[in-house]
Amino acid sequence: MSVTVRHVRAFKERSERFVMLTAYDFPTARIVDQADVPVILVGDSVADNELGYPNTIPVTMEEMLHHTRAVARGAANALVVGDMPFMSYQASLEDGIRSAGRFLKEGGANAVKIEGPAIELTAALVERGIPVMGHLGLTPQSVNAMGGNRVQGRTEEDARRLLDHADALSKAGAFAIVLEAMPADVAGRITETVPVPTIGIGAGPHCDGQVLVINDLLGLGPRPLPKFAKAYADLQTEIGRAARAFAQDVRDGRFPDAAHTYE
Ligand code: KIV
Repeated sequence: MSVTVRHVRAFKERSERFVMLTAYDFPTARIVDQADVPVILVGDSVADNELGYPNTIPVTMEEMLHHTRAVARGAANALVVGDMPFMSYQASLEDGIRSAGRFLKEGGANAVKIEGPAIELTAALVERGIPVMGHLGLTPQSVNAMGGNRVQGRTEEDARRLLDHADALSKAGAFAIVLEAMPADVAGRITETVPVPTIGIGAGPHCDGQVLVINDLLGLGPRPLPKFAKAYADLQTEIGRAARAFAQDVRDGRFPDAAHTYE
């Protein structure tokens, strides 16, 4: 059964915790989809995790669409969310509407995610039939304005501002809101206040759902991992081991052997 935004909202109604994972390519999307992960985010984190950029600022709409199409082809059931990259929506409402439309029309996504309190754009997209996932707290596209990737909402004033933004986003029609890098009690207050699911990353255990970057989950991410991330596998070691074993087999004349050679 294909997951829709209604299913995502229903997780909160049933108090059922759920996960979202990023994916950037076809085989990973297929594996994650078959593992019954209900929501796949084609994050702009593809920039630093897959494309070798220093942060998420440089990634373009064309690159995001390229990865979104691959993920959409691999995700038979999961809801695919395309992440609106830096400057695809900040200059004007019209830019934002056109970029979001491209994610659904050309990328095969089911929804888009937008960083920051883009209240007017969220309302405009929902009105046009484009589901929106909000994203508050640490918003990496604002790394320059924030003076680094910093935990947000540490003062009561900042926490209040986040609460107000979350409330406004849910009233504008966002179907879920990512909460990134904020104290657990602030995320808890937002989660209690808004009627739509919150999905935390570095926001503690009180969120309705949790999201991880797939490279961090698989042990392909930076070492040491950021405090909030957890590796559930060590593919960096495993890939290195396989590459070294192949090279050694070739050097020693063990590969290709008869079993891997045509008559
Ligand atoms: O781009 C991304 O991977 C994200 C998640 C960290 C939520 O925005």
